[in-house]
Amino acid sequence: MRDRRTSCPGRRHLMKTVGAAVVLSALPFGERAAAAESGKGRIGMIGSGRVGSALGRVWAQAGHEVMFSSRNLEDDRKLAAEVGANARAGTPGEAAAFGEVLVFAVPYGALPELGKALAGSIEGKVVIDACNPFPQRDGDIAVEAREKGAGLKSAELLPGARIVRAFNAVGAARMAEAHREPGRIGMPIAGDDKEAIEIASRLIREIGYEPVLIGGLEMGKYLMPGTPLAGEHSPEEIRRIAATLNP
Ligand SMILES: NC(=O)c1ccc[n+]([C@@H]2O[C@H](COP(=O)([O-])OP(=O)(O)OC[C@H]3O[C@@H](n4cnc5c(N)ncnc54)[C@H](OP(=O)(O)O)[C@@H]3O)[C@@H](O)[C@H]2O)c1
Repeated sequence: MRDRRTSCPGRRHLMKTVGAAVVLSALPFGERAAAAESGKGRIGMIGSGRVGSALGRVWAQAGHEVMFSSRNLEDDRKLAAEVGANARAGTPGEAAAFGEVLVFAVPYGALPELGKALAGSIEGKVVIDACNPFPQRDGDIAVEAREKGAGLKSAELLPGARIVRAFNAVGAARMAEAHREPGRIGMPIAGDDKEAIEIASRLIREIGYEPVLIGGLEMGKYLMPGTPLAGEHSPEEIRRIAATLNP
C-alpha cells in the first residue's frame, strides 16, 4: 500500500516550501514578504477572530498565502484587504480546500459541525488546533473535551486530520509580537504525527516562537488556559514544567 503521507505531492511541496520559509525567516520580518514571491505554503484559517486574524496576519507577512474564513465573508474580505499582500477571504469550505495547512481558531463548540461540513477537505491535512473547550461558552462538547482531553477530542471531531495542538494558552494579542524576539518564548505543542509536528513547528518558529513538543495528543489536555503551561514561558521552562506532567 502506498504511504499517503509521503506520496502526496501537496505535502512534498509544503515540506519544501515551509523549509524555504525557515531560511527566509532569518531575514528581517518586513523584508520577508518581498523576498518570498514563490515557494511558500497555503494556509487556511478556519476562524478569523482574535486568534485567527493575528496568526493569519503574521503568516501572510512572512510570505504564506493565507485565506481567512468565518461565517461572515464580508468581515473576512475586509480583514484580508487590510492585511494586504498574500491574504484573501473565503467561506470555511473554501479555506479548508485552499489550505495545505489548516488552522482552527473557533469556539470549541463549533468543531462538531465544522468537522462534518469540512470532512472532505480536512482528511490527511495538517491541522493546527488552537481551540479551547469552555463549558460556559461551548456547552456539553466542552465538558466531554475536558474529560477526554482536548487533543484526543479534537482528533475525534476532525477525523483524519493530522492535528497539532498549539497557540492554546497564550494571549491572542501577543501572537503577532513574538517575532520581535525570536526564540525567547516557547510554544508548547502536542501531536502524534511526526511530519505534521515538523510542519507546524516550522510555521511556529517562523513567527518567533520556539516550539516545544510536550508529547502526543493525549498531552493536549495540558494545552489550555488554567494549566501550569499556560501563559508565556521560555522553552527551558516549558520543558521543566512538562517533565512534571502525567500523560
Ligand atoms: N483569545 C485568545 O487569547 C485565545 C488564545 C488561545 C486560544 N484561544 C482559543 O481559540 C479559539 C478562537 O478564539 P478567539 O479569541 O479568536 O475567538 P473569537 O475572537 O470569538 O473568534 C472566533 C472566530 O470563529 C468564527 N466562528 C465561530 N463559529 C464558527 C463556525 N461555526 N464556523 C466558522 N467560523 C466560526 C468567528 O466568526 P463568526 O462568528 O462570524 O463565524 C470568529 O471569526 C477559541 O477556541 C479560544 O478558546 C483564544
